[in-house]
Amino acid sequence: MTQFLDQNSIFSIAKMCILVITISEVKCSPPEDPIQCTGVVTNSNCTITNSYGAFPDRNICRAAKAVYPTSEAEVISAVAAATMTKRKMKVGTRFSHSIPKLVCPDGDEGILISTKYLNRMLNVDVSAMTITVESGVTLRELINEAAKEKMALPYAPYWWGLTVGGMLGTGAHGSSLWGLGSQVHDYVIQLRIVSPAGADEGYAKVRALETGNPELEAAKVSLGVLGVITQVTLKLQPLFKRSVTYITKNDSNLGEDAVSFGKVHEFADFTWYPSQKRVVYRIDDRVISTNSSGNGLNDFPGFRSTASLVLATLRATEETQESLGDVDGKCISGTLTTSTLRTMAYGLTNDASGTCLDSREDARITACPWDYRVKGLFFHQTTFSIGLSKVKNFIEDIQKLVALKPKSMCGLDLYNGILMRYVTTSSAYLGKQEDALDFDITYYRSKGPLTPRLFQDILEEMEQIAVFKYNALPHWGKNRNVAFQGAINKYKNAPEFLKIKEMYDPLGLFSSPWTDQILGLKDGLSIENEGCALEGLCICSHDIHCAPSKGYFCRPGKVYDKARVCAKVKNSRARHLS
Ligand SMILES: Cc1cc2nc3c(=O)[nH]c(=O)nc-3n(C[C@H](O)[C@H](O)[C@H](O)COP(=O)(O)OP(=O)(O)OC[C@H]3O[C@@H](n4cnc5c(N)ncnc54)[C@H](O)[C@@H]3O)c2cc1C
Ligand SMILES: *[C@@H]1O[C@H](CO)[C@@H](O)[C@H](O)[C@H]1NC(C)=O
Ligand SMILES: *[C@@H]1O[C@H](CO)[C@@H](O)[C@H](O)[C@H]1NC(C)=O
Ligand SMILES: *[C@@H]1O[C@H](CO)[C@@H](O)[C@H](O)[C@H]1NC(C)=O
Repeated sequence: MTQFLDQNSIFSIAKMCILVITISEVKCSPPEDPIQCTGVVTNSNCTITNSYGAFPDRNICRAAKAVYPTSEAEVISAVAAATMTKRKMKVGTRFSHSIPKLVCPDGDEGILISTKYLNRMLNVDVSAMTITVESGVTLRELINEAAKEKMALPYAPYWWGLTVGGMLGTGAHGSSLWGLGSQVHDYVIQLRIVSPAGADEGYAKVRALETGNPELEAAKVSLGVLGVITQVTLKLQPLFKRSVTYITKNDSNLGEDAVSFGKVHEFADFTWYPSQKRVVYRIDDRVISTNSSGNGLNDFPGFRSTASLVLATLRATEETQESLGDVDGKCISGTLTTSTLRTMAYGLTNDASGTCLDSREDARITACPWDYRVKGLFFHQTTFSIGLSKVKNFIEDIQKLVALKPKSMCGLDLYNGILMRYVTTSSAYLGKQEDALDFDITYYRSKGPLTPRLFQDILEEMEQIAVFKYNALPHWGKNRNVAFQGAINKYKNAPEFLKIKEMYDPLGLFSSPWTDQILGLKDGLSIENEGCALEGLCICSHDIHCAPSKGYFCRPGKVYDKARVCAKVKNSRARHLS
């Protein structure tokens, strides 16, 4: 079945929480503010976390104070005040969707500069086809505003709760090999950024960067370490419609198709269920004739408000399956998730993608699926891109793993399989280095850090095959520590980026141990302690990095023998032999 959609309605106007429509008394709950301060009046003594409520190391971050500027002038004052006293700073957003500790200021005494109220539309220029917004504006607001003037951002992440500043911070993207590709930052033609400065300049400095200025190539994907981006101008296109069809095939030809499919269809992507040996191909193109009328909207079920009860049930089922080692159960639940998704036509309904953001009031009734206030889903996300020239080999390696352990990837189906999206070479210094396919893999994370997951070894091997064998680049806003090991050396202009960082913020006030580690300026990315490999904090080199008391030992990979993974060893004899 083909559906015709307006580009704007792919994300479009929010509806109330879906349950409100069906059961009128039911209330639902918007995500909690990730910044919480006990000093309510002065916004002091604060904690910051992400929308999942958990960083990869499970710690919470602290800050002495949070500030909520409403204009660039107030941002300048905030940066100047902190710089004068050499305080550490970080930009925080309304939702804080990144998984790694990017938003944490160094130490407990830093300042959080929130973009929550830096959320105005500044200018829409119809003749130049550009839009200028403050950095706290969300993707949803941006898309709606552009649509009012019959314009569209052609490619964007599939989730509209991200802010413009946050998308640039981590290099967020949708899926396309066409035009300038799917990364939002490649459509930036101008931005304004406030950075620390010396006393002679009043301790803060604003720079306006335009296309052609090499500093823009650093600021477009900045990991938040160059200063506070206040305004962004993006290049748009005339609004268009799309025709979307999903077809399901077996995965025999996936390696070949992965290279060619994106060249044929402008918004192509794949959802791969390796244990089911199935792939859903998204055939998605711009419709040239404006004849086809359609007002279908895209509300990917994973992003809808889901009854908290359903989430708790899913989680409880998964926890039971994990603890019982119920491999078949996982495969059955996985198939169920897939077929439910298909029946719902992957969310192409008269609703909108991301309705759970509007959910009102009570998290005990409905919430976003990842909301940590309910006993909802808790997962790791491993997300990386592999150059198109290598992607076929990578897919074949994964298929070899599945051939050895057929049921090992059923657990991924519960999280809608592996989402594969196209990205292109970017001029941004920390952007993609070549045309590539991005793999988004979501999987069970135990509430207890020392509890291994089913097929722990296979998932770890997949991660290491990608990162080390095929030199995959990490998504800066997702992943576990392992994916960042050696990552910075894969960016040919990393030294240029570091020079600009040194120029903008010589004292490193916007830097933290985490950003220093991923930029290769500091050791400590790999945290070696008991059970560290289970959480992707390290690659195991000793059994204690796994869970020997639960039968998990450090072993070589099955397909990639350089991998070191935590494998379940059946009997104690085998333990001593291998
Ligand atoms: C449900 C969900 C769906 C997602 N879907 C996609 C997807 O389809 N495609 C994709 O690529 N990614 C996706 N992501 C990941 C997402 O792109 C990144 O995590 C993104 O950076 C989060 O944006 P945010 O506004 O929440 O920013 P945050 O996570 O709060 O911030 C990210 C970084 O940017 C910095 N920053 C933010 N604003 C500014 C500013 N104004 N100036 C300077 N620095 C700033 C922060 O300090 C931080 O370092 C998804 C995440 C979730 C939770
Ligand atoms: C600061 O916040 C923590 C909780 O995050 C609380 O335990 C502590 O008492 C607070 N301190 C002050 C001085 O309010
Ligand atoms: C996969 O599907 C193709 C047809 O699309 C078929 O020729 C092939 O035999 C199938 N492979 C498997 C393993 O089922
Ligand atoms: C466009 O719509 C008109 C009238 O509704 C119809 O006659 C025509 O065949 C349509 N053209 C295409 C290409 O579908």
